[in-house]
Amino acid sequence: MRVAVFSTKAYDRRFLSRSNADAHRLDFLELRLSPETARLTQGADAVCAFVNDDLGRAVIEQLADAGVRLIALRSAGFNHVDHAAAEAAGIAVGRVPAYSPHAVAEHTLALILTLNRKTHRAYNRVREGNFALEGLMGFDLRGKTVGVVGTGLIGTVLVRILRGFDCQVVAFDPVHNPECAALGARYLAMDELLGTSDIVSLQCPLTPDTFHLIDDAAVARMKPGAMLINTSRGAVIDTPAVIRGLKNGHIGSLGLDVYEEEANLFFEDLSASFIPDDVFARLLTFPNVLITGHQGFFTAEALEAIADTTIANITAFEQHGAPLHPLPTRS
Ligand code: NAI
Repeated sequence: MRVAVFSTKAYDRRFLSRSNADAHRLDFLELRLSPETARLTQGADAVCAFVNDDLGRAVIEQLADAGVRLIALRSAGFNHVDHAAAEAAGIAVGRVPAYSPHAVAEHTLALILTLNRKTHRAYNRVREGNFALEGLMGFDLRGKTVGVVGTGLIGTVLVRILRGFDCQVVAFDPVHNPECAALGARYLAMDELLGTSDIVSLQCPLTPDTFHLIDDAAVARMKPGAMLINTSRGAVIDTPAVIRGLKNGHIGSLGLDVYEEEANLFFEDLSASFIPDDVFARLLTFPNVLITGHQGFFTAEALEAIADTTIANITAFEQHGAPLHPLPTRS
């Protein structure tokens, strides 16, 4: 198969080339897939895309015209794909449903621990010879209530880790997971979860139901001073509402690995330029906000698994006409 691989960095090339035992022709492109770059797929059988590539209807129609028959996502999330448009165009879509839920769950813990014990600030202080502790006080995680929203693969690993810290775990998910219940997670209604959690962590997919799940009303229902963590998808949070919560002190701290408008920021080095997004720039002014640039997935184990499954999806499509892991059936 000839595959146009969009949004590639050196690490993508390394891991995909290493997994490509089936000798597909991989054309690596640094560009993001968009209406402007879709014409580069001319002659390709498949495109391989990442989280901030545009797979809306307009692009999908261009892909179909170019002869593309498969979209191989290098991600678990598929909220950026117009599934109906792909079906209508006769383009199959494969994804990587599970590469390392541990990678994202452990990164979620990293955000929680850093925000709580303020190690990001301590690091800078100590390097400047400032050993004062004022402003660095945290709390014991033991006994605190953590609300996990979405108890799928990542949520379940997170529940297990949190139980190891002796946290009380409450959960919200339209589908109750017996594994999480067995680990001691107590399922509540979303409003109840918000009202009882010292930390709220979002591990749900972005869907019409979860779009701006955390809005002004949800912020108001949270415990005063609670920590909010989002390692799922940016648009699950209404960022201006959360900024209002930070400004009036209702939200105690915020940890983000994802941001609604991240496509124009993340994965690029903008350090010699400027941040064009005023909402994001406002977030950076809070000492109690910690942002990482969508790196939850970024472990060696996860990259290896992503590359292996992506190649397996492409090979299965070539041999049997369907990827190994198609998108879930549309409801
Ligand atoms: P999963 O499909 O195993 O689990 C998702 C869970 O969310 C399911 O149990 C589902 O029932 C639940 N859910 C659906 N609608 C919900 C709602 N309205 N409220 C609460 N829960 C709801 O997915 P997995 O692998 O656990 O990943 C979760 C999300 O994490 C992905 O969809 C993706 O957006 C994000 N992610 C982020 C990464 C990062 O690098 N930061 C990497 C990988 C995934």
